[in-house]
Amino acid sequence: MEFYSEKQQITAAVDAFKTKQLTIGLVPTMGALHEGHLQLVKKALDNNDKVVVSIFVNPTQFDNKEDLEKYPRTLKSDMNLLKTVSKDNIIVYAPTVDDIYEGKIAPQRFDFGGLELEMEGKFRNEHFDGVGTIVKRFFNIVKPHNAYFGEKDFQQLQIIKKLVDKFHIPVNVVGCKIHREASGLAMSSRNTRLKPEYKKAAPFIYKTLTTAKKRFGTNSANKVLEWVENQFSEHNLLELEYFIIADIETLKPVKRKSNKKSYRAFIAVYADDIRLIDNIALN
Ligand code: PAJ
Repeated sequence: MEFYSEKQQITAAVDAFKTKQLTIGLVPTMGALHEGHLQLVKKALDNNDKVVVSIFVNPTQFDNKEDLEKYPRTLKSDMNLLKTVSKDNIIVYAPTVDDIYEGKIAPQRFDFGGLELEMEGKFRNEHFDGVGTIVKRFFNIVKPHNAYFGEKDFQQLQIIKKLVDKFHIPVNVVGCKIHREASGLAMSSRNTRLKPEYKKAAPFIYKTLTTAKKRFGTNSANKVLEWVENQFSEHNLLELEYFIIADIETLKPVKRKSNKKSYRAFIAVYADDIRLIDNIALN
């Protein structure tokens, strides 16, 4: 499997593929890969000749130093996992912080038309400036035809689409369904850090989302909100940070339902000190 850590190398490798008329997919990740990431990689392999998987724990998108330091860095096992999917058509790009930020670890500031101010943007200061900065750089370095992002981070996906529009970046952004454990818990690198009792409790999040979806069919958004908040107030292990039903285009909380709009429910929950997010399409 090809591996590069310098931007000149990856740019040259991609250029060489492009002169052979090969199509390039990009799957940006922060490593600690799991089956959810692999779904993105597999979809990218189905639709492109070569797939660049970037592995980079991006410092500018963490608002919490401890979270950044604790983030698992498992390059060797990530590479082994990727080899189980394809040895020939995956290129791993794992740059150093210096190579990307050249001594100035600071995000660019973005206006994503308000998308960045909702939900995760409210609770994670400057998070989306950091995401926008790194993804824009990767698009510029790799210049892929297609790029793959999970609906697990639905707000991030919408923001990347906005980024591409705003800066006229010639890449097709593809959203991929949330991959779940058998219990329903959305796969996440953080799940491995859950203590057993919390791991056992965590599927309650998706269970609540699926019931909320059913209730949304016949109830107002406010009624569903109330019900979800009650569910969590009675739970002794999981602490609700937010539950929001939002318009998928604006990500603003719904006030009055309209048949013409699509909605999703978004949730963030603390299981001990581990923050878990999930979401579900409602209509
Ligand atoms: P990371 O959390 O590693 O996720 C990489 C990609 O995998 C994201 O697009 C994310 O939505 C997707 N993903 C993670 N878990 C998933 C699941 N259970 N089902 C489907 N997709 C899943 O998101 C990031 O990294 C970073 O913010 C990044 C975009 C790489 C920028 O640094």
